[in-house]
Order: sequence, then C-alpha cells, then structure tokens
Amino acid sequence: MTRKKLMAANWKMHKTPDQAREFVASFLPLISGHHRDEIVLCPSFISIPATIEALQGSRVDTGAQDVCWEQHGAFTGEVSPAMLRAAGCTHVIIGHSERRQFFGETDDSVNRKLRAVLPTGLKPIVCVGEVLEEREAGVTEDVLRRQCSLAFREISAGGAAPIVVAYEPVWAIGTGKTATPELAGEAHRLIRHQAAQAFGEDVANRMRILYGGSVKPGNAALLMSHQDIDGALVGGASLEPKSFAAIVNY
Ligand code: PGA
Repeated sequence: MTRKKLMAANWKMHKTPDQAREFVASFLPLISGHHRDEIVLCPSFISIPATIEALQGSRVDTGAQDVCWEQHGAFTGEVSPAMLRAAGCTHVIIGHSERRQFFGETDDSVNRKLRAVLPTGLKPIVCVGEVLEEREAGVTEDVLRRQCSLAFREISAGGAAPIVVAYEPVWAIGTGKTATPELAGEAHRLIRHQAAQAFGEDVANRMRILYGGSVKPGNAALLMSHQDIDGALVGGASLEPKSFAAIVNY
C-alpha cells in the first residue's frame, strides 16, 4: 500500500499576515519541482487569508491549528469548521499536545472536534503522543491506545477516510530530541492497529500517520524512508522557508 506523504508545517503562534506572505514568496520557488507529496502550511487563524492568497495557483494547501466542535453559535473566541472551509482551508490540526497541555484539550474534545470536522470535507490531522513520564513509566502503548480509541469513538468507517493521525511524542517536540525511525514506526503500527479496530483494515491501511517532534532537514530523509511513516508535522524547522523546503524535498 503506497500512501501519499503529507508534509505539514505547524507555525504555532508565529508569523503575522505579512510574514506569512514573505514566507510563501521565498518558499514556493524552492519547491517548484516538487510533485511527490501533499504539502500544507498551518498558520495562526489571523494569517490564514494572507497565506491562502499568497499560495493561490500553487500546489500547497492551507490548514488551521485548531477548530471548534460546533458550526456556529454562542462560542466566543472560537472558529468553526464551516468558517475554515469558507476561508479556503483544506486541513486542520486537532488535539495538538500544546492544546492539551495549556488549553484544556481532552480526548473527549478531540473526538467532538473530529466529528464536527469530518462532514465538512476538511482533512483533520489528529495529534497523539505520550509525555516523557509516560514513556519512562512504560505506558506509552496504553496512552496511544486510549487517545486513539477515544478520538475515533462514534465515527463510522465510511466517514473516517480523510483522517490523518500525527504521532508526536511530547518529549520530542521543540527539544531537538527526535524519536528514532524504529521507535516511531512501532508507535505508528500500534496507531494503525487501533484504526483497524475502529474502522477496519482497509481504512486503516490507507490512513496516513505522520511523525512530529524535532523533524529537521538533517533527519527528515531517514524518518521518511521508514515504511510506516507517512509524512511529517513540523514545528520549529517549518518557520524558515529554506529549512521547510529542505524537509519537503528530503
Ligand atoms: P517541533 O514541533 O518540530 O518544533 O518539535 C512539532 C509540533 O509541535 O508539531
């Protein structure tokens, strides 16, 4: 089964609209010969329109970093899946560990967001991963099983096809410590097994599972050569056009 890789930039709380435009102007020429993978930039909400406009006519997509579980209503400060679609987004990150750690995201809210997003046609990138204490305590598999099974709850096999999962061991995010391809591969196989239990083998075999956590130009090729790693979710190294282009062109 060959799965088209997805290379995603998570800009987190960086880049104003002008800075997003500047990035795109430098980035596009660097990937002009690239036709292999799906590429997506995920700016902050405020820089989404500028990014989409700058990317027009290119093969690069735009995604959001979070989303509400309702389509409209009295939810001050939130942005709905329908609004992201209307703005021109194609992807959305759900359940990033920083949302879980700092903003009260739970397995339950991840599931609600996922169920709200799927009918709109946005491609969700659902983040899972263990913190250092959990890895050291030997409970990584339990954590991944729990995060996946709760995220996938009440979603039909028919509706699950667009789901992308990003395995991001929290101890590797922004730390310069990268999981080895073998360690990531092990986690990815477990996640695929959970997907198979929830949606069946066929959907699970097609599901893309990305790796995230200190992906850099220097380690991208090794990670991407692993058969169970279907792309990357890149934070710090996606902020510079040259380094994200080097990762995309691994
Ligand atoms: P990092 O972040 O590449 O800076 O480690 C990855 C992420 O948080 O998605």
